[in-house]
Amino acid sequence: MADGTAHPPVPGFSRRDGRLLAEKVPLATIAEAVGTPFYCYSSAVLEDRYNRFARAFAPLGGRICYALKANSNQAVIATFARLGAGADIVSGGELQRALAAGIPAERIVFAGVGKTRDEMALALRGGIHQFNLESEPELRALAGVAQELGVTAPVVVRINPDVASGTHHKIATGHGDTKFGIPWNRLAALATEIAVTPGLSFMGIAVHIGSQIQDLAPFASAYSRLAELVASLRAAGHTVTRLDLGGGFPASYDPPAEGLSASGRQGADDLPTPEAIAGVARDHLADLGCEITIEPGRALVAEAGCLVTRVLYVKETESKRFAIVDGAMNDLIRPTLYGARHPILVDASAGAPDDTASIVCDVVGPVCETGDYLAEDISLPPHRAGDLLAVMSAGAYGAVMASTYNSRPLVPEVMVHGQAFAVVRPRGRIADLIAAESLPPWLDPGSAGP
Ligand code: LLP
Repeated sequence: MADGTAHPPVPGFSRRDGRLLAEKVPLATIAEAVGTPFYCYSSAVLEDRYNRFARAFAPLGGRICYALKANSNQAVIATFARLGAGADIVSGGELQRALAAGIPAERIVFAGVGKTRDEMALALRGGIHQFNLESEPELRALAGVAQELGVTAPVVVRINPDVASGTHHKIATGHGDTKFGIPWNRLAALATEIAVTPGLSFMGIAVHIGSQIQDLAPFASAYSRLAELVASLRAAGHTVTRLDLGGGFPASYDPPAEGLSASGRQGADDLPTPEAIAGVARDHLADLGCEITIEPGRALVAEAGCLVTRVLYVKETESKRFAIVDGAMNDLIRPTLYGARHPILVDASAGAPDDTASIVCDVVGPVCETGDYLAEDISLPPHRAGDLLAVMSAGAYGAVMASTYNSRPLVPEVMVHGQAFAVVRPRGRIADLIAAESLPPWLDPGSAGP
């Protein structure tokens, strides 16, 4: 661990006699109950990751606003709500989900570059904790809505610190030419405009430089930029009371525990820990006397979830071997969209899987696209049709990014708690997909068209 902090293993996913378990429940038992594919979440891992961040940031008085976008299932949000979490939302829909799961409005921050006036009004009426502003036009829109409602919106300005976060280009947000934030050198002018605009109250600064940041240095650069900006704003007479450090804290895409036979290792065990990141924040920001918020998404949920899928066929061509499974890119888009490599575990019915006999293959789904794969060139222990595979570290940006492409209904989500498990979203039904659509009058023989 990067800072040497001992961290006891959590009873998340493990193996017994070759079979995979989520906490104390065999994945095969869940597969029998709900069919495949399905997402499976361990509540012990969710709680462990939340508590670890909470402990690490407690000396800074840090508030944790869970970034709902990573996984917005009610059961996941409610797990965090009970531990005292707030929410980082990016839409009116996420606002309603957060409230429904028991997160009070005063613990909700609203981020995102494209908030609509309706969403602003919803959030203002609800009395949320803060709006993270991303542009001048948004500032004027928010002021207008707040004035109409006769309320004052607490505002922090998201700056773009122009820091390279070293992560995948589709999820890097802190360098100069992205749509996110306001160039840091325009902050002072904007703070002044907010301070004199009725309906707005300037509270502080936000930053978020990207997701899955695997190194401490970009965090240090961003936080030190924040400290400089607080000093210069204060020197110019502004009151700065809040700092929002965003998310971006990494999750491991390595196999989840010792002794699990898996493939697809990325060697990411040296990731910055919550304690190390909190240490960097403390070094730069502790003396400023600001209320500090963090917005972790992935780091709280990724390792708590897996996508369980069944091998339908094994197909061999002259150059390749394919494990054709019943899960596909519509269920988990990350490998296709970002080239993400998730470890895959084989649920071996005949004792521990034999790693020495591992074989390189592509794990592909039934969707009619060459880009439909859950893993490319992955080394898997022997497996055959009928076996279950668990695509690990899929709790973040998995189910939430799923679609019904190829008319494949959304897969169920299941949460495990010790020996218990519960379906927290049932499998979608094709009949519902069809029922949601309707024919225009000229195609509908039942309607009395001209
Ligand atoms: N705060 C803001 C303003 C964000 O834009 C994000 C993520 C977060 C917090 C949470 O970031 P996290 O702690 O999860 O890294 N779909 C991509 C990730 C997109 C992240 C978008 N913004 C993926 O599957 O890798």
